[in-house]
Amino acid sequence: MKKLLFVLSAVSLFACKQKPADNAAAAEKDPHSLADPSKAVVQHLDLDIKVDFATKEIGGKASWTVKNITGADSVIFDTWKLNVQKVTIGREERPTTFSFGDEVPVLGRALRVKIDTGTSVVNIYYTSSPDAGAVQWLTAQQTAGKQKPFLFTQSEPILARSWIPCQDGPGVRFTYNATVTVPSDLMAVMSAENPQQKTADGVYHFKQSHAIPSYLLALAVGDLAFKAIDARTGVYAEPSVVNKAAWEFADMGKMVDAAEKLYGPYRWGRYDVLVLPPSFPYGGMENPNLTFATPTVIAGDRSLVSLIAHELAHSWSGNLVTNANWNNMWLNEGFTTYFERRIVEALYGKDEAKMQEVLGRQVLDKTIAEMGATNPDSRLKVDFTGRDPDQATGQIAYEKGYAFLRTLEETAGREKFDAFLKKNFDDHAFQSRNTEQFLADVNKDLAGGDTSFARKAMIQQWVYEPGIPSNIPSVSSAAFNTIDTLISKWTADKQTAGLHQKIKSANELLYFLTHLPEVNITDMTALDKEFGFTNSGNAEVQSKWYVLSIRNSYKPAYPKIEQFLGSVGRRKLIVPLYKEAVKNPENKQWATTIYKKARLNYHPVTYNTVDEVLK
Ligand code: BES
Ligand code: ZN
Repeated sequence: MKKLLFVLSAVSLFACKQKPADNAAAAEKDPHSLADPSKAVVQHLDLDIKVDFATKEIGGKASWTVKNITGADSVIFDTWKLNVQKVTIGREERPTTFSFGDEVPVLGRALRVKIDTGTSVVNIYYTSSPDAGAVQWLTAQQTAGKQKPFLFTQSEPILARSWIPCQDGPGVRFTYNATVTVPSDLMAVMSAENPQQKTADGVYHFKQSHAIPSYLLALAVGDLAFKAIDARTGVYAEPSVVNKAAWEFADMGKMVDAAEKLYGPYRWGRYDVLVLPPSFPYGGMENPNLTFATPTVIAGDRSLVSLIAHELAHSWSGNLVTNANWNNMWLNEGFTTYFERRIVEALYGKDEAKMQEVLGRQVLDKTIAEMGATNPDSRLKVDFTGRDPDQATGQIAYEKGYAFLRTLEETAGREKFDAFLKKNFDDHAFQSRNTEQFLADVNKDLAGGDTSFARKAMIQQWVYEPGIPSNIPSVSSAAFNTIDTLISKWTADKQTAGLHQKIKSANELLYFLTHLPEVNITDMTALDKEFGFTNSGNAEVQSKWYVLSIRNSYKPAYPKIEQFLGSVGRRKLIVPLYKEAVKNPENKQWATTIYKKARLNYHPVTYNTVDEVLK
């Protein structure tokens, strides 16, 4: 018997290289997908598409390998403004029929394809809409090089369906191969094994041999160059950016090593970063094998590289073990924030990690204060049913999730907690999981029979109740305490000269800017003279300073703010500026004028949010 088991597991280990996706029946129905994967589920995608910059369309054929679990007479895909020309079944492409359901706000339309009990392949011929929510088409003018157009996608959380018909929920996993045809002077890259050079004909082949959820489907096309950092890491960017990027991210290889040491092997092969044009709506996106990143993290002094640690950490928390649906998003983002700070600690030391922890706590406190401590959206396990999960998610998943995991760490002890996490990633690699499954693991593998553990850690309150439980670990940073003292002194004497010699690092500057008492124009002028905030090269610092500038109508900063809003599309950095501007009619008028032009430079993710702010 033992022998047979051994043989079986050897066989399955062997098969692991290209095993079909394991889509164990999702424990809870995904409220943000119209598909029904419990009846017929996808396992693999063969994609053959062409990117047309003239019509702003991505189109071609998506061939899905499906498993008809219940012998259903149809299989359902999510779509958003997709134009479907034809659907066939089987490798031999037999004709079949298909129909669209009614348009559901936020979710799009269900595409129902008729299948037989034995159907294993469905071929969908389609084109995306020019205003597909995932896709941003950039003109040459909007790129660093100004010569060639650019395109990138952002699929998380539910935008993949706007450029590929798919079962668009994180509880469904599949492998993929893709052939992508682009203009022959451009290069294509995806969330997969990637080329390092342009091809002569603009045809690129990709392979993702690990089962991923649809929100990790990603494509970028542009005038790209590659530069290696070490044997398994490197950067892609426009030629004029690639060297700066490689310098800024020189520690990427060390980050992967540190991460592996913490929580087990990096299982994806290469780890590269693609630096996008500044309109990328996020700081970073953890597309497998190829993190997509904003150029605003290139500060010139490596001060913002924790963002790379964050996206890399998603290669475990998120990409390897995935939230079952977006109500469990804290499993992705909370774990990743915890993991990110552990990588930072391993590479840059405890003091640096503590500063980031304090800044994070500040964000948490502010978020709770703004939303109200009884707001149900401040629970870790949330209910975003009927809402756009992208507009609904804030910092709770990140920072309350982080604080909860720190609580578990303190309750169990770091050594036990680390062993638990490592085992958890291992046990559930390439699976999608929900909060309840995770808590069962805590009970089984972390509490280890201690029946008082859950009570001590206040697990119930942390996960299912709004606000912050009383056992939240306290945080402090010696460097920041020094700044508190400096601020008190400055508040009393308003002596600005010499301050910038004492407050230097990006973390310290950010702390300083967010802990100043109310300032007036005279203060702003003096601070700007001392620190040069208006002309800062650090986008995080700029964003904070520009909010203060707008609040105080500090006009010397306005031309720079206009420039910032006109080029940077990273939502987190610019939305606070618009929000501040609408508080006063004159500023609102000014911001509205800027936005008229700037909107053309933003990705749908960003302009949908700013539209709401300015309406
Ligand atoms: N996965 C997120 C981005 C995301 C979250 C996209 C939810 C859509 C919906 C990514 O890993 C992330 O968290 N990015 C952060 C940076 C990070 C350092 C906190 C960002 O973009 O600001
Ligand atoms: Zn993240």
